[in-house]
Parts: sequence; structure tokens; C-alpha cells
Amino acid sequence: MDLFKAMSERKSTRAYLDKAVSRKDIEEIIRYAGMAPSAINMQPWEYVVTYGEEKDRLSQLLSKIQAERSVPCGPGTSKPLPDKFLKRSRDASRAMMPQIKNTGLAFNKFVEEGSCSFYGAPIAVVVAIDKVFPHLRYLDVGLSISYLLLAAHAKGLGTCPVGLITVYAEEIGFFLNIPQEKEILLGIALGYADENSPVNNFKTQREELSEILSWYE
Ligand SMILES: Cc1cc2nc3c(=O)[nH]c(=O)nc-3n(C[C@H](O)[C@H](O)[C@H](O)COP(=O)(O)O)c2cc1C
Repeated sequence: MDLFKAMSERKSTRAYLDKAVSRKDIEEIIRYAGMAPSAINMQPWEYVVTYGEEKDRLSQLLSKIQAERSVPCGPGTSKPLPDKFLKRSRDASRAMMPQIKNTGLAFNKFVEEGSCSFYGAPIAVVVAIDKVFPHLRYLDVGLSISYLLLAAHAKGLGTCPVGLITVYAEEIGFFLNIPQEKEILLGIALGYADENSPVNNFKTQREELSEILSWYE
């Protein structure tokens, strides 16, 4: 698949088919994720993949804690966000809302419960980094995650990054046997998209180039 086509087409998938993904495909996607550049080639990213009964048990655990603690889905910032970021976030929610209405769930409930169950995807990927690294190295992991999302798309698979679950990093680490020296940065749902589901039937917009690019000349 052409790279620019993959970059333009990729979007987050929030409904999945009950269809297994082969181990070979998962390995290939993670291999591509590992091709990302990193500072002095340290490749600080680590991926833990779970599926089947174990993935279901992880989802049940996360859903149970979420029901008890009810952590809201939000930007996670301590200071109020400048208006332009709030607007982008609101616009994304507005794009999703009409489709989510069809599920019968309120928007927040859909995102919170959906995130905790990896939106029903057959595969859950958990991304971690050794705590020995400074926060700047999260950047390298982000690059690798982008490669992963694009590689999955090129293989005809859907993904959704799920940051919400990282508030339950301790429980996830315990469940997946991830040592305490690792920081859990993100979850990723992975599987074949249910193209007929209304919740996959919208695309978020992006700012004009002039909003994100400035020249000094
Ligand atoms: C770091 C990160 C965390 C995210 N966390 C969540 C999440 O917890 N739940 C969710 O439904 N989507 C989550 N998303 C998906 C974003 O909402 C989505 O990427 C954004 O709205 C742009 O839409 P697109 O991916 O379809 O282009 C996350 C994305 C990123 C990059």
C-alpha cells in the first residue's frame, strides 16, 4: 500500500469483527513498529500483546475498575487548555456523537467502557518503556506507535490507541506480568474493523496547514 494513502486513510476503529488475527500478521506489524528511528538507536519501545481468554480477562478487569472509579476521558492536563485545543477536541467529539448515539450509550460511557474493553478488538497491545529513560524518550515510542498504526492499516487491520487505561497501569502491569521498572504508556486495540458499524463511520478532521506550520525567512 502506498504510504501517503495509508497515512490519509488511517483512522481509529471502535468496533471490530470477531475474527482472529494471525500471529504472523501481529509479528509483522510489531516488526514494522520496531523500524522507527530512535535516539542513538536505543529502541526504547516494548510491546506486550494479549488475545483470546487473557485479553477478555484483562478487559473485564479494566471494565470492573473503571465502573468502580469512573475515571473520565479527558486531556489529562493540570492547567486549563487554550481554546484552540479545546475546540479541536470538541469538534472530534461532535464528529463521533451522531454515530455513537446509535449504540444507545452516552458519549462518555461509550468511550470509557469501550476503551476499557479495547472496543471488543480480539487483540490488545500494551506499550511500555523502561523507567530508566527520561520523558523525552517517550517521543521515540510515539514514533514507533505511528509505524505500528500505519503497518496495521496497510495489512487491512484497524487500530485504536487507548490512553484512558493507563490510569490503571499498576493493575495492567500486575495482570500482564510487566515488571515495575516499566512504565505503561498506551494500550492499542487491534483487529479487523467492523465496517458496517456506525461508530466506524466517521473521520476526524485536521487543521489547515497554516495552523500548524509557520515559516521564519
Ligand atoms: C495517545 C492517544 C491516546 C488515545 N486514547 C484514546 C482512548 O482512551 N479512547 C479512545 O476511544 N480513543 C483514544 N485515542 C484516539 C483519538 O481519539 C484519535 O486518534 C483522535 O480523535 C483522532 O482520530 P483518528 O485516530 O480517527 O484520526 C487516543 C489517541 C492517542 C494518540
